[in-house]
Formats: sequence, C-alpha cells, structure tokens
Amino acid sequence: MPVISAESAQLAGSDALRRQDPEMADVLLGEAERQATSLQLIAAENFTSPAVRAALGSHLGNKYAEGYPGARHHGGCEIVDAAERIAVDRAKALFGAAHANVQTHSGTSAVLAAYAALLKPGDTVLAMGLPYGGHLTHGSPANFSGRWFDFVGYGVERDTGLIDYGEVWDLAAEHRPKAIVCGSIAYPRHPDYRAFREIADDVGAYLIADAAHPMGLVAGGAAPSPVPYADVVCATTHKVLRGPRGGLILCGADLAARIDRAVFPFTQGGAQMHTIAAKAVAFGEASTPAFTAYAHQVVANARTLAEGLLTEGFGVFTGGTDTHLVLADPSSFGVDGRTARGRLAGAGIVLDSCALPHADARGIRLGTAAVTTQGMRETEMARIAVLFAMAMREDPRARVAVRELAERFPPP
Ligand SMILES: Cc1ncc(COP(=O)(O)O)c(C=O)c1O
Repeated sequence: MPVISAESAQLAGSDALRRQDPEMADVLLGEAERQATSLQLIAAENFTSPAVRAALGSHLGNKYAEGYPGARHHGGCEIVDAAERIAVDRAKALFGAAHANVQTHSGTSAVLAAYAALLKPGDTVLAMGLPYGGHLTHGSPANFSGRWFDFVGYGVERDTGLIDYGEVWDLAAEHRPKAIVCGSIAYPRHPDYRAFREIADDVGAYLIADAAHPMGLVAGGAAPSPVPYADVVCATTHKVLRGPRGGLILCGADLAARIDRAVFPFTQGGAQMHTIAAKAVAFGEASTPAFTAYAHQVVANARTLAEGLLTEGFGVFTGGTDTHLVLADPSSFGVDGRTARGRLAGAGIVLDSCALPHADARGIRLGTAAVTTQGMRETEMARIAVLFAMAMREDPRARVAVRELAERFPPP
C-alpha cells in the first residue's frame, strides 16, 4: 500500500516542480511523507482534501482583489468575485449567520479585526487568562492585544478545571469591560455561551467568541454554536473545519459593515483569492452528511483516547473531553510536557506541550482531527494510548508500531 495517496504524491512532487526545482520538490515530498508516516496529533492541524489543495494551488492566487465583491480596487475581478460570493454564502448557510467575512488571513487576523471593529486602544477586555488556555490574542504582552488593550483574565476552577462563571461575573462587574472573549486553545469542554451572553449583557459588553478550535465541530453539529449568542464569532478554517489555513468572521447584519471595514482596509490589504476559493470548497465539504459523521467521530475518538491515556497513567485535565482536544499531564512518568513531547516525537507521535492550569509544570495537548480524517476510529485510539505509554518509557518498538499504524491509514 502506498504511504501517501497517488494524488498527494503528485501534488507534493508535481512534475513541473520536480523538473524545475528538484530541491524544493524533495522538501514537499519529504513533508508529505513525514505527515503520512507519523501520527499528527497537534490539536490545531488536519489533512485538507485534494479539492481544497487544488483550489489553493490555483490561478486565483495570481489575482489582486482589494475590496469586496462588486467593489474592488482592481480590474478583472469578475471571476474572483464569484469565488468570494460562494464562500460567503456557504459560510452563512453552514453556520446560520447573517454576515460572513472570509478574507482574514488567519485566526489572529480575525481576532485583530474583531477588536478593531468594536474597541478603541486602552479599552478593557475580559478573556481567559493565558495560563488557563487563553490564546496570544487574548492579552499576551508579546502580542498586539496585550499592548493595545487592558486585558483582565478569568480562569478555571482548581478542582474541576471548568470555567469559573462566578469569577467571570465578578470580574465583569468589577472591571466593566467593553468586550468579553470566550474561547481557548486548550479547553476541552464547551463554553456556556448563554452564560457569557448574560454576563456581557449585564455589563453592557460585546461578546466575542473566538471559536478557532471548535468551529469544525460546530459545522458538523458536534458542538454547540456560539453564533446565536456572540456579537462576533472569530474562527480559523484550518483546524477541525479542514479547510486551508485562514480565518473567518461571522456577525449580525448590524456589525457587518464595521467588521468588513476592520478587515479591509484597516488591518489587511488584498484578499487571497485562492485561499478564499479553498475556504468555499471546505465549507461545501463541511455541509455534507459525511462531515457531520466525521465531526462526531472526532469527538468519539478524543474521548476514547482520553480514557486510554487515563488507563496508561496520564493525568487528563477535566477528566476527559467533549471536543477534539485532550490536555494531559505526563508527570506520573517523571517528566514534564516538554520532555514528554520530545519522547513522543521520537516515536513519531507529533503533538504540542501546553500550560496546565494551576500547575507548575507543562502538560501535553493533543487532538484527533487529523487521525480521524485518515479514517482511524476507537480501536486505533485505544492502540495510540498504548503507544503513548511505550514512547514515554522510550521503548524503541514504539516508532515501528507508530509507522505501521499510520501507513495503514494514508491521508487524503
Ligand atoms: C483560540 C484561538 N484563537 C486564535 C488562533 C490563531 O489562529 P492563527 O494561528 O491562524 O493565527 C488560534 C490558533 O490556534 C486559537 O486557538
């Protein structure tokens, strides 16, 4: 059986590239092989379909298109206008939103545009604190957010690991933020969007849902949607949603013009039309029954993997997961998350280390979006948990077993 599909091999090492630039063709093929022979458990990653990659590599990438469909600063935009209209219509239908902006280059640019639309420098924003799972854009001093806004952080309960809504209420009442952000890089449970809405209404704040991680689960009906509750929903298109790397913003009709202006011309220039076309293809895929089944399988797989890790002796934050991601504590193996990540990488298990709330040492964060796209199910998740423990004990047989497992499930 080929390690990567013929189509992937063709794309990764396409004849024209190989003839003209064999050095780079080898790099592309090497990465395709790396992805196909190890286990991709980075919670923010996935495998795009050949159709998404075809759109990404298309002639639309040649086109300059500042502005929005029907109102561009360049000529010759009739066809790319059609691509963007299709992407917008599909995003609105998929998530039941009144307005969609599909131009943001990344999740970070989506959050930047949301802040630009709703806030002024110096405004107070309440978001999950970074030690508890907040993203860099939720107030890191190393990021524009922490530099330009006054962030106040809420946390999670020490005992349960769940968001402490009492604390969110209290901090909102004390600091009267202009916006409240819900969303995280590592929270394995669903935020209570209704509670966040109530708190925001109580203090007259905007509610921004940064749903970069769960948005694919939302599309597949495997997670509650923030769309009915948040003023603005920011997301990435490349995680469980399985599209190209990029961002997405949804909002009501009342904020549509402000959001669009905040993206272009305030924070971005020309839209990347090849990426927008690829987003449209991904939204089309995400609206199929097959994707609904996929999203539910992603969660079932994450639950099984979390249970397996518990059995193998890992700590599992919040005791399990309702999503695609699992936050685990390897300290029972005598190491922290950084060392664990290295040992696992040595066995071909690729994931991130991550802050563990209320802990001194780091943990590991993993997700099941990519392995589920490969077709792996509960049986394979139970096996992966065993491979984790072997890798932690530096058992050399782990690398061979990981490769064998990965090669049985070629990525698309
Ligand atoms: C909650 C959250 N917000 C924003 C982002 C930023 O996305 P990007 O890396 O595309 O800028 C991420 C990425 O992981 C995220 O998890």
